[in-house]
Amino acid sequence: MPQKVAGLPEHVAVIMDGNGRWARKRGMPRPAGHRAGVKSVRATVQHAARLGIRQLTLFAFSSENWKRPAEEIGVLMSLFREVLQREVAELHKNRVRLQFIGERERLGPRLRTAIEAAEGHTADNDGLQLVVAVAYGGRWDITNAARKLAQKARDGELDPETIDEQSLADGLQLAGMSDPDLLIRTGGERRVSNFLLWNLAYAEIVFSDVLWPDFRESDFDAAVDYFTGRQRRFGHTPEQLEAAKC
Ligand code: IPE
Ligand code: IPE
Ligand code: MG
Repeated sequence: MPQKVAGLPEHVAVIMDGNGRWARKRGMPRPAGHRAGVKSVRATVQHAARLGIRQLTLFAFSSENWKRPAEEIGVLMSLFREVLQREVAELHKNRVRLQFIGERERLGPRLRTAIEAAEGHTADNDGLQLVVAVAYGGRWDITNAARKLAQKARDGELDPETIDEQSLADGLQLAGMSDPDLLIRTGGERRVSNFLLWNLAYAEIVFSDVLWPDFRESDFDAAVDYFTGRQRRFGHTPEQLEAAKC
């Protein structure tokens, strides 16, 4: 019976929201909130690694965020590159393996180069697997996976009758990784905003009112505590899970 006792989550996903409001509250322009959010990213990565979490997936920029003012997008893209270049040595030292998911063809050449360099540099690390979602959308991800299957079928390499959930999952950006056990969204909104639509099927969800730049270790701990108190049933009855324990 597929049972999972909710110990420490293996994979935590975070929608880092609330930067703009954090800045506005202080009478500052929205990009100041994005800059302030970097501190929370650093604290969260270090803390997750310390707790022994295996995978951390951070939503940094969605497919829909391309609709924002060009100036804000520009600041964000420069910030991604700047932070990546500055932090990669420290991440490597801490054995973090860094990966990016999303439509990287839409990113500028300098950011792409920085991403590829960071991924290559940390590829053999065996510590925390840190995945950053940039220009990522859950619908894009699933569409992309479906296209790959269709191409294989067209080329005669795949019988459509044999397509199952696993074959589609194998074409997703997080192929080979376990599904997130816990999703945290900061900033008070209670929605998924086109994040990992397929992979979040059974995630426990914590919505935190804390704005991302204010998010600290204790907020992460509170979400993990909530998670460890859950009974994850995956469709079974509580009685079935009790019986399986004996
Ligand atoms: C999240 O903060 C960061 C990105 C989406 C890039 P927001 O920029 O969405 O902040 P709010 O929601 O406007 O406060
Ligand atoms: C979701 O936040 C995307 C990221 C945090 C990167 P948004 O602020 O873009 O989400 P909506 O548009 O309010 O749903
Ligand atoms: Mg937002």
